[in-house]
Amino acid sequence: MELLVLVSLCLLTFTGKTFGDKLDQTPIIIKEDESVILPCSFSTSLTNYRFDWKKDGKDVFLYENGRVNPSSPDEQFNGRVSHFPDEVKSGNASITIKQVKVSDSGTYTCLNLDGKEEERQQIKLTVGAFAKPLVSSHITADWALLRCEVLDASPEPTVVWYDSDGNNVSDRKPEVRETGGRYNIILETKVTKTDNYTCVATQNELNHQSNKTTSVNIKGTCPKPTIRIIEKLNNGTLVECKVRGVFPALKMEFQNRANFTVSAGAPQPSPNGINEYILRHYVTKEDHYHCVVTQDNICHQISSEENLVHVTSELKDTTGDKQTGES
Ligand SMILES: *[C@@H]1O[C@H](CO)[C@@H](O)[C@H](O)[C@H]1NC(C)=O
Ligand SMILES: *[C@@H]1O[C@H](CO)[C@@H](O)[C@H](O)[C@H]1NC(C)=O
Ligand SMILES: *[C@@H]1O[C@H](CO)[C@@H](O)[C@H](O)[C@H]1NC(C)=O
Ligand SMILES: *[C@@H]1O[C@H](CO)[C@@H](O)[C@H](O)[C@H]1NC(C)=O
Repeated sequence: MELLVLVSLCLLTFTGKTFGDKLDQTPIIIKEDESVILPCSFSTSLTNYRFDWKKDGKDVFLYENGRVNPSSPDEQFNGRVSHFPDEVKSGNASITIKQVKVSDSGTYTCLNLDGKEEERQQIKLTVGAFAKPLVSSHITADWALLRCEVLDASPEPTVVWYDSDGNNVSDRKPEVRETGGRYNIILETKVTKTDNYTCVATQNELNHQSNKTTSVNIKGTCPKPTIRIIEKLNNGTLVECKVRGVFPALKMEFQNRANFTVSAGAPQPSPNGINEYILRHYVTKEDHYHCVVTQDNICHQISSEENLVHVTSELKDTTGDKQTGES
C-alpha cells in the first residue's frame, strides 16, 4: 500500500514536471485597477500548506506552514495579493491580485513546495490601460493639421484618422514613445477638406476602441481662372484657361456669351506647378468666351472674365467648334 502511494506520487510529480513548464492556462487579459484571480490547482492536496507564486523572478506570494509569509512579497505586490484559505487543502493555490497595474503584466509561476519534486504551473497576465484619444487642430485658409494624442495606453494601440465617410486620411506614420510598457502616441495629418474628422484608437488585445471627432471648416482661397489667347491660326484661335489653387479642379469648361458650353475637359495639371490647372480649346466661331472651373466642395464653381475671341477665317460663323487635344 505504501509503495503504491509512493509510485503514484512519483508519477504525478513526473507528469507535473514534464508538462508543467509550459503555459498551462489561457492567458488572462484585464483592465487596469480591476481585480484578477490567477488560477492554480495541483492534483495533490497541499497537506503541508506550502506553495509559492513568482513573477519574472519577483516574489509575489509565499504560503508556508499554513500561514502567509508577510515578508515575502516584492514591494510591487505588497498588500494586494490574497489566497483562498478554505481551498488550499484541496490543492487550490489560486490567488487574487487587486488593483492590477500595467507593470503587473508578465508570466506568473505557481510552485507546489509540498512534494519532494517541485510542481509548477504558469500563466500569462496582461494588464491594459485603455486608450483615450485627445484631438486638436490647426486650421488655415487652405488646409488643417489634425493632431491626435493617445497618452498612457497599454498595450500599444493603433491610431488612425478617418473622414466622415470612413476613409483613412492619415498621411504619415504615428510618433510612438514607450516607457515601462505604456505608450504615448501622436498622429498628425494634413487635410484640405471641410469635414468632421475622427481619430480612432484600437487595442485589439483588450477588445477596446475609442474615438474623438473634430470639426474642420476650411474656407479655401478661390482664385479666379484666367482666359487668354495663345495663338491665332488660319481658321481658328487657340485659347487657354488657367487656374491656380490648392484644390484640384474637377472640371473646366469654355462657355460662350449665352453660357453654352462649347468645350469641356478633364483639367491637366500644369507641368510648371502642381497647383495649376490648364485647359485649351480651338475656337472656330467668333464670340465672347469665358471659362468655368468646378472644384471640390469649397470653391464650387468660379468663372473667369469674358474674353472676345476673334476668328479670322472664311469658315467662321458656319462651322461649330471642335476641340483640340490637350498638350
Ligand atoms: C480555487 O478556488 C477559487 C476560489 O474559491 C475558485 O474560484 C476556483 O474555481 C478554484 N479552482 C479550482 C481548480 O477548483
Ligand atoms: C492608414 O493610412 C496610413 C498612411 O497611409 C497607413 O500607414 C496605415 O497603416 C493605415 N491604417 C489603416 C488602419 O488602414
Ligand atoms: C459635422 O457634425 C455636425 C454635428 O455634429 C453636423 O452638424 C455637421 O453637418 C457635420 N459636418 C460635416 C461637414 O459633415
Ligand atoms: C465612435 O464611438 C462611438 C461610441 O462611443 C461609436 O458609436 C462610433 O461609431 C465611433 N465612430 C467611429 C468612426 O469609430
